Amino acid sequence: MSAVATSAPLLVFFSSTSGNTARFIQKLGLPASRIPLHPNEPPLVIDEPFVLVTPTYGGGQGRGEEKGAVPKQVVRFLNDERNRRHLRGVISAGNTNFGESFCLAGDIISRKCDVPHLYRLELFGTPEDVDRVSDGLDRWWHLQ
Ligand SMILES: Cc1cc2nc3c(=O)[nH]c(=O)nc-3n(C[C@H](O)[C@H](O)[C@H](O)COP(=O)(O)O)c2cc1C
Repeated sequence: MSAVATSAPLLVFFSSTSGNTARFIQKLGLPASRIPLHPNEPPLVIDEPFVLVTPTYGGGQGRGEEKGAVPKQVVRFLNDERNRRHLRGVISAGNTNFGESFCLAGDIISRKCDVPHLYRLELFGTPEDVDRVSDGLDRWWHLQ
């Protein structure tokens, strides 16, 4: 890929009104941009490499039924080629209560956009998740 990255990883995230993912992002303390919740807000356009952090909203329909697992706001964001070309990896959030659909959004985006699914976390993440993502992401980012 390109020359070794010198800056901190940029995160682009979506979080619904429950705000779990936003809470996790806040704990990481990295530069971050939020994908708008409402369709009438101006769309987000990113012109530099980023890692996407997204919750899953499939509703536990299982691996065979993927429709809706990626939040529609995230689909809209990634449908814009200007954004998609800068996507380098995905981190997904979910709830293990959803069984086979746990963090399914990350699997779908990874496959469709051909980027690594870097990490899965539950709800707003544990202190261990925060440490592991901070350390791992920083090391990985500087190898890109
Ligand atoms: C209606 C609904 C459907 C959900 N479906 C899934 C799912 O299929 N798989 C999963 O891992 N988590 C699922 N979740 C859990 C969310 O991904 C989890 O609560 C996440 O932290 C929400 O992030 P947010 O508060 O930033 O929007 C679902 C939650 C809701 C409310």
